[in-house]
Amino acid sequence: MEQRSRLFETVTVGGQQLRNRMVLPPLTRSRASDDGVPTALMAEYYRQRAGAGMVISEGTVITPQASAYARVPGIYSAEQVAGWLPVVEAAGRDGAVVYAQLWHVGRQSHSSVQPDGLPPKAPSAIPITGYQYRSAHGRIPYETPRELTTAEIVQAYGIAAANSAAAGFDGVELHAANGYLIDQFLNDGSNRRTDHYGGPLENRMRFLLEVITEIARYLPMERIGVRLSPSSDWMDAHDTDKRTLYSTVVRTLNGMGVAYLHLVEPEIAGSTTVDRPAGFIPTAEFAALFDGPVIVTGGHSQASAEQLLASGTADLVGFGRLFIANPDLPNRFLANAPLQPLRPAGIYGGGPEGYTDYPALAASGT
Ligand SMILES: Cc1cc2nc3c(=O)[nH]c(=O)nc-3n(C[C@H](O)[C@H](O)[C@H](O)COP(=O)(O)O)c2cc1C
Repeated sequence: MEQRSRLFETVTVGGQQLRNRMVLPPLTRSRASDDGVPTALMAEYYRQRAGAGMVISEGTVITPQASAYARVPGIYSAEQVAGWLPVVEAAGRDGAVVYAQLWHVGRQSHSSVQPDGLPPKAPSAIPITGYQYRSAHGRIPYETPRELTTAEIVQAYGIAAANSAAAGFDGVELHAANGYLIDQFLNDGSNRRTDHYGGPLENRMRFLLEVITEIARYLPMERIGVRLSPSSDWMDAHDTDKRTLYSTVVRTLNGMGVAYLHLVEPEIAGSTTVDRPAGFIPTAEFAALFDGPVIVTGGHSQASAEQLLASGTADLVGFGRLFIANPDLPNRFLANAPLQPLRPAGIYGGGPEGYTDYPALAASGT
């Protein structure tokens, strides 16, 4: 008996109807200008992937200090907003809903890329151990960050959200996953603050909640999504009780009426697939605590995505590496066509090679 496809059913997110449940999840590709201004090449890349029901931009930094790597786009300057306009238009040209992923890396940055040449700022002066920073000259240890003051950064998130709306984005996704700044506040391994942003869980969640409240001055709450990676210890993201931590975060977000919850599967460490960490928590546990739309991303194929939707764990599914290599992924799924493999060259940085040169079905003749 032929199975009904759920991937190609409509779904509503933030009051907008999506024509399918396939998401282009945030994917850093490092093709912006040196000033973080989106380029025409980026518009072409997103235009090629506009068949997704929802497009989430690559991680987009909210201030120059928020960045860790060259050629990552920003959304804090007028030039960047102007650069995003044609990119967002291209991404939404077939009706996709387009969100900007707002990013601050916190202690994952390095003095060599900080505007003042000093170590990056983070919740506490605790360096990342067990990982190395990918500098322009090879891998080097992470530095001990400086403890930040929150008000300025919370405000920068609000400005970035207002800029996102000006650039035509339908909403924003807060990058609260993968051991970046917001996740550094949540996890007690990276947050030893003694003020009201550290200590009890209620305090460690305060930064995230203040950021959401600030953004809600500029965007409706139903246009603010949040991405979490509850089982990941990638980049030294450690907590004494991840289950309690992330269940409480999800319950709190549920009560606020945010646009969606975006969960990264336990077998994903940043951008690669690894063994599920010992004591991983099934994604379904967190999804069950959230009444609104849930996006799940990480290692999914067409078949596993259909299962995930049928089981009720997810309402939408993200396909990262498959979408990089197959710009017309929805058409390929519909046609049951072969998928192109991901080529390592050009994943991060460079020009069209490995970026916009993956052919669509008709062009490749498959
Ligand atoms: C090249 C690359 C860049 C990525 N950049 C981001 C990013 O900017 N923000 C983010 O939240 N996740 C990022 N990720 C993680 C993906 O969004 C996704 O969670 C991961 O690739 C697992 O999904 P997949 O198995 O479908 O590829 C990146 C992954 C890859 C492969």
